[in-house]
Amino acid sequence: MSQPLIRARKYESLDAQLEEQELRPLLHLTPRTGWLNDPNGFSWYQGQYHLFYQYYPYDTKWGPIHWGHAVSSDLISWKYLPTALAPDEEYDQDGCFSGSAVTTPDGTHFLMYTGFRIDYNDPYKRGYQTQNIAVGNGIDYMKFQDNPVIDPKNLPEGTDPYNFRDPKVWLSDDGALCSVIACANKKYGTQLLLFESTDSGVHWHQKSVLAENKDRIGIMWECPDFFFLDGKYVIIAGAMDMQEQGNVFHSGNNVFCMTGSYDLKSASFLEEKICTLDHGPDFYAGQTLQTPDGRRILIGWMQNPDTTDKRTVSFSYFGQMSIPRELTVRDGRILQKPVRELETYRKDPIVYQRVHISSETIQLDGVSGRVIDLMIRVQMDNCTDTYQMFRMQFAKNASFYSELVYYPDQERIHISRTHSGIRRAMISERDATVKFVDGLLNIRMILDRFSTEIFINNGETVFSMTLETEMSAKDITFQANGSLFLDVTKYRLD
Ligand code: FRU
Repeated sequence: MSQPLIRARKYESLDAQLEEQELRPLLHLTPRTGWLNDPNGFSWYQGQYHLFYQYYPYDTKWGPIHWGHAVSSDLISWKYLPTALAPDEEYDQDGCFSGSAVTTPDGTHFLMYTGFRIDYNDPYKRGYQTQNIAVGNGIDYMKFQDNPVIDPKNLPEGTDPYNFRDPKVWLSDDGALCSVIACANKKYGTQLLLFESTDSGVHWHQKSVLAENKDRIGIMWECPDFFFLDGKYVIIAGAMDMQEQGNVFHSGNNVFCMTGSYDLKSASFLEEKICTLDHGPDFYAGQTLQTPDGRRILIGWMQNPDTTDKRTVSFSYFGQMSIPRELTVRDGRILQKPVRELETYRKDPIVYQRVHISSETIQLDGVSGRVIDLMIRVQMDNCTDTYQMFRMQFAKNASFYSELVYYPDQERIHISRTHSGIRRAMISERDATVKFVDGLLNIRMILDRFSTEIFINNGETVFSMTLETEMSAKDITFQANGSLFLDVTKYRLD
């Protein structure tokens, strides 16, 4: 075992006491200590879910990146394992960047990741990026002696070696390993390249350009994923530096999703629909796995990459994952739902039916909390015209609140954490279009101390948002312009 790996494992185990003492989310994975960004190597191996993460143990800032490691039997409760990869080879000496994992037919856990090495000959000191592999037994991983297995210098002219990263690997039906990798090209802009290996990941050849940006969505794409679901092919990727377009795309780094078909002959994706995967300010670098029972599950880094240095609360760790979400595709749209395993954590249901809401702000007995699963069905009042506005405030006390507001005639949902107590200039508001169908709006809100994830109309529209509001802010209130009825079910998750 290399010195950097021994050091990381020792350091995190000494720091492990902190895990216990610190206020952390209950149901969202945080790093064992230090910094966390993207989910990596999300996979099922030897009867457990494995989730690795971009990890810098020694500080709560991004630094030479390792792969942290955790396992779970239900995708909700995670147990830490020792650091899996450390930057300890020439090709990854400045970081083991994002990648993925697959279980091979011979029962090994196969990792593919990007090695990052600062190029001191480059005037901008950018990082040269190669693809590398490691195999292991679920705890210890050996990097392949002949890494890198894909070096951008062997790719077509125009390939940008400083922007070639984040392999997502899978096993095809004929037993070959496939990998989709994001790549900038001087001539063509961002491309997603498809690679194939028929010798267990040692040699790779570029099969095709799976998809191209053509200057539409952000600048560079990162962390791509590609899979088949409910009759459609789906691409998910993070787009850097996006430009806002109505409520469809938001500025900054966001994850988008394309659905379409796949042309076998050219091995390329034929795009039909494109959308933002999560309209909240805090969701990036999504990655999926397929469960043994066939579900496609997405997890993301619940953080806006632009605001990592903007927090006011500080702990010995930074960063959290989203709740894993079950994906389905309907009419070319992706729907997201918290994994069903979360339901086994529900306690003490509080149920209300047909609560009348109008201009007065009301609170419902027992409907409050910061670690809860809350389901709300908003129904228009059939005796009156439709309401003009529905407002729900949460994580609220006399000083603070965050809110969700729906304007049915504009078919718009607005979320805000402007009054949540944050002291820094962060993105605090987002809007998304939500159709007003049959006078109904369904909201599911997961609160877990430092975040909320909101699933609208069975996951057609989703918002993820981190919160720094003090824990005593637990109230939830409802109010409307006009008249409406609410069905409310609330569960504790703590
Ligand atoms: C996305 C990303 C990836 C890269 C990793 C480095 O957040 O920039 O493209 O592999 O983070 O930590």
